[in-house]
Amino acid sequence: MALEQVKRHIAELRESINLHNYHYYVLDDPAIPDAGYDRLMRELVRLETAHPELITPESPTQRVGAQPLPEFSDVTHQIPMLSLANAFTAEEVTAFDQRVRDRLDEEDIVYSAETKLDGLAVSVMYDNGKLLQAATRGDGTTGEDVTQNVRTIPIIPLTLIGNDLPERLEVRGEVYMTREGFRKLNENQERRNEKQFANPRNAAAGSLRQLDPRITARRQLTFFAHGVGQYEGTVMPESHIDMLQQLKRWGLPVSPQTKQIHGVQGCLDYYHDIHEIRDNLPYEIDGVVFKVNDFAQQKVLGFVSRAPRWAIAYKFPPEEEITKVIDIEVQVGRTGALTPVARLEPVTVGGVTVTNATLHNEDEIRRKEIWIGDTVIVRRAGDVIPEVVCVIKEQRTPACRKFHMPEYCPACGSDVERMEGEAVARCSGGLYCPAQCIQAILHFSSRRAMNIGGLGEKLVQKLVEKGYIRNVADLYSMTEKELAGLERMGKRSAANLVKAMEKSKQTTLERFLYALGIREVGEATARALARHFGSLEAIQQAEQEQLEAVPDIGHVVASHITTFFNQAHNNKIIQHLLDAGIFWPMVQANQTRLLEGKTFVLTGTLQTMSREEVKQKLLTLGARVSGSVSKKTSFVIAGVDPGSKYDKAQALGVPILDEKDMLEMMKHHQR
Ligand code: IVH
Repeated sequence: MALEQVKRHIAELRESINLHNYHYYVLDDPAIPDAGYDRLMRELVRLETAHPELITPESPTQRVGAQPLPEFSDVTHQIPMLSLANAFTAEEVTAFDQRVRDRLDEEDIVYSAETKLDGLAVSVMYDNGKLLQAATRGDGTTGEDVTQNVRTIPIIPLTLIGNDLPERLEVRGEVYMTREGFRKLNENQERRNEKQFANPRNAAAGSLRQLDPRITARRQLTFFAHGVGQYEGTVMPESHIDMLQQLKRWGLPVSPQTKQIHGVQGCLDYYHDIHEIRDNLPYEIDGVVFKVNDFAQQKVLGFVSRAPRWAIAYKFPPEEEITKVIDIEVQVGRTGALTPVARLEPVTVGGVTVTNATLHNEDEIRRKEIWIGDTVIVRRAGDVIPEVVCVIKEQRTPACRKFHMPEYCPACGSDVERMEGEAVARCSGGLYCPAQCIQAILHFSSRRAMNIGGLGEKLVQKLVEKGYIRNVADLYSMTEKELAGLERMGKRSAANLVKAMEKSKQTTLERFLYALGIREVGEATARALARHFGSLEAIQQAEQEQLEAVPDIGHVVASHITTFFNQAHNNKIIQHLLDAGIFWPMVQANQTRLLEGKTFVLTGTLQTMSREEVKQKLLTLGARVSGSVSKKTSFVIAGVDPGSKYDKAQALGVPILDEKDMLEMMKHHQR
């Protein structure tokens, strides 16, 4: 290709990429699929790589170009960047409108109503349509030069479009981060063990003020224009909304929520409407802004101190407040999950008094380093449960102390379990724990467990609330008369329920095991347990290793089972159930469990199997394997070069088997 041709091709590619950006970002209406856009970009990169002398700073490939800066330099705003007066009540907005009407001597004022984005104000200067410089607001007079970083924000055009571009145009607007971008950023931060950002605003500010633009480029920042500073070489429209429309035609993004409204009623309605949809917006806003639409009227109104008289921000009640953690308590949920909850000094957040906040789990408390007594920022957005955002560490006093998860359930005193790799700690007293009792009873009586028809959730709730039953064992002592006395419970249904309970007493061991609601013991595991051990007592007494010898039962499930049966009150309830008359046909235990009740000790080197293999084999046969010889040892198995255990067995008169005897015995028991 001749150089002239390359130049032309590059120019065409740049123009069409810019146009597609405009369609995608500003009009929110992509003109080509992503793949097509990527192809254009790749083609441009290819040509520019071959002809680096043709690269210009405005090329869409040059967003992240520069090296990290040593520091930001200052930028003076020729026209100061003002701030807005705030209103917090409808009365204050009414008073604002009254002042405007009085000063203008007009009855009906047209306003531009906009969302108040929670980001940071920046000024972006265009020189004949090319992005020249970008600066933060700073103190309103002097800001920082963040051109390098602003160039990385994909929604901000590096070149404006149209053939009526001003010689100079200073666009003002808000750089912000979407909720999604914020979530992703914090996820990444966590993965890299770096600090979490408290909210999208802080995240946006932190990202824009990076000396290395490559970091900013990764941060998913975005932008809405909400005004104009200096301009030269163009005639501006006569109103704010028309001006925003003009900016949009030049390729700048403006908020789709902007609306032309009339009078104070229009303001209040707009505030209400936006408040309603606030949580559905993809970004956070902290209120709405009303601006007198007509520029001539704006000019008459002028400024007072640092804010225009022609505009006001009507803020939503703050969603974040500072308060103190008085204590951290633990709640037990219906499924036994232990949730730490922060008791707070009462504080109004989002218009509601908040006295506690969920802390989710122990890891979350560690991660956020929340101590009892800490000063914290709490947040309550929409209907969401209040949350502790972060701790103000500077305000931690020596009286503050760390929180520890209790070892025993605060509701019932059972052991608390927390499995490796799981965030949630749980109460192991499923059957007994009052916090879990409704759930436990519903599971117990469900169709595939004890199958007590007619015992629905509402009824169980009522029975528990009225104190008729505290746990599953109490179910079987309910009489027909008691049941019939309940609200909305007919004689017939009471009789049917008693009949169903009576019928449920005849069950199977596997159903009964499943009904107990041991964590992670579903129907299949219950069946495997029943078949392997044959009796409830054997399962109750089984040790971790013996349980793990059952096919498909791993370490975690085995430890759930032992923990469950280690809770004396669980066994007590089981006894009550059996006393109430629950029974099942004898289960033919596995033929292979014929070493049940025998204890073995291994010593010396075995020839045909490893010690571990022998141990596993013995466990599957129902035996126990111990490390030391005592009077209770049933057999010692001695290989070559046995140790002191051999002598001890001899001294105590414990029978000693050699390897051949052992293999014989196993073969025998396998039949
Ligand atoms: S206009 C002279 N419009 O709010 C008027 N500001 O509290 C200058 N902001 O510094 C601002 N959304 O960072 C305007 N639609 C909006 C806005 C908005 C957010 C920010 C802006 C400003 C601050 C004032």
